[in-house]
Amino acid sequence: MRRRDFFVAPLAAASLASCVRPRPESKLLPSLAPIPQPFEIALPIPPVAQMTRSDAVTDSYEIDVKLATARILAGFDTPIFGYGGVFPAPTIAARHGRRVSLKLRNRLPVPIVNHLHGGRTAPASDGYPIDFIQPDTQREYIYENDQRAATLWYHDHRLDFTGPQVWRGLAGFYILRDDEEDRLPLPRGGRDIPLMICDRSFNADGSFQYPSIDSSLLGKPGVTEGFMGGVLGDVILVNGAPWPKLEVANVKYRFRILNAANARRYEIALDPPGEIVQIGSDGGLLAAPVTQGSIQIAQAERFDVIIDFSKYPVGSRVTLLNRLDTGAMGRVMRFDIVRSEHDDTSIPSKLSDVPDPRPEDAVVTRDFDFSYSRFRHEWLINGRPFDPNRMDARPRLDSTEIWRLATDFNHPLHLHLVHFRILSHSGRPGIYDSGWKDTIDLGPGQAASILIPFRGYRGRYVFHCHNLEHEDMSMMANFEVI
Ligand code: C2O
Ligand code: CU
Ligand code: CU
Repeated sequence: MRRRDFFVAPLAAASLASCVRPRPESKLLPSLAPIPQPFEIALPIPPVAQMTRSDAVTDSYEIDVKLATARILAGFDTPIFGYGGVFPAPTIAARHGRRVSLKLRNRLPVPIVNHLHGGRTAPASDGYPIDFIQPDTQREYIYENDQRAATLWYHDHRLDFTGPQVWRGLAGFYILRDDEEDRLPLPRGGRDIPLMICDRSFNADGSFQYPSIDSSLLGKPGVTEGFMGGVLGDVILVNGAPWPKLEVANVKYRFRILNAANARRYEIALDPPGEIVQIGSDGGLLAAPVTQGSIQIAQAERFDVIIDFSKYPVGSRVTLLNRLDTGAMGRVMRFDIVRSEHDDTSIPSKLSDVPDPRPEDAVVTRDFDFSYSRFRHEWLINGRPFDPNRMDARPRLDSTEIWRLATDFNHPLHLHLVHFRILSHSGRPGIYDSGWKDTIDLGPGQAASILIPFRGYRGRYVFHCHNLEHEDMSMMANFEVI
């Protein structure tokens, strides 16, 4: 056989057996509304959630989750699902050691589930995918905040419908601060800015476009044929605004970057080229800053970075690029350096000293394979779809394990409850520079080992792919801490 025939033959055979389909790639859903011009709108900052009560131990919030509209495209009102009626959701400002009570009232016509991503949370408050808040009911979530300062986020986690419900707006920041971090001379206040990056696609009337099989989100779950590899939009939003711009002074700023997209990965870089200094990861501050030329950010990952605009003359403009795409999707936002200021902040060479866990302490090693089944047309973990009644691992509380993860495709893998260290990633050692992670990005045919201390609570949690279309189409499993 010639090389060419060798590749064609199995494909022809596959199309005869109609139940075998190739692994779907993520797919662009083009907008029907006019695409906005970049760099016209000022970067919005999500509102900070207002406490309804605060006593010696607890800060309480009561938020209605409801239908509302957002002004995203000029001249259109976009209907959203909104925590507090806004997208992004209000930022919850939490403090280490102070409990947060979050009471959500569901005013939407669909069930919801709330999850604090990156939170060390008791099972009853973690947002297990079938712990629904039914329409017109409420639920209280308790977050102890017994963990390091970190940029966390909260989002919907409804079984089979997380993709469309996050796409419609159910995501926001939860910023946890502590004394260790406050002692550092890092930029703060108006120079500590959360950036939620995601992409969306719009219908001609300005509403969000998403290829649900049943757009009421009350019937059959899933997306139409062709989109089960992941839905990509063609408008990049930062804090809910398309390709915004931010006026800055020629000083250092801290940006807490979250990739809240369903299926899109970004590689951020500056143009003109410049340094991005990473100071934190999913689980809080790194031991020491790491200077990067560009940073790849998979879905749900957080990168806490410092950009020093004193490297650029006042009057210049710096574009934040997305190197994984071209044209409009190759840009994220722009910084306009409009004034000069005195900078009394600095980036200490030592940021934090959390002891590294030791690989020798691991008592169990487990293997998980994440891949597409061409027969079942589902995304599976170790060949099985999500089943709430099956435990896929039973780690002991306070024990440390090594999990070896292997993937067939791009899968950003996330574990609830824990933070872990990356021991190796596609052959590279990784423990020292990536910090504490709760989500690890793996590419096609890659493998990684992660070291996980199981601390906090006994009970049932999920781990899953954070490509939300993969998650909704079964790439999720359970572990029970015993
Ligand atoms: Cu960000 Cu299980 O979720
Ligand atoms: Cu999570
Ligand atoms: Cu995946």
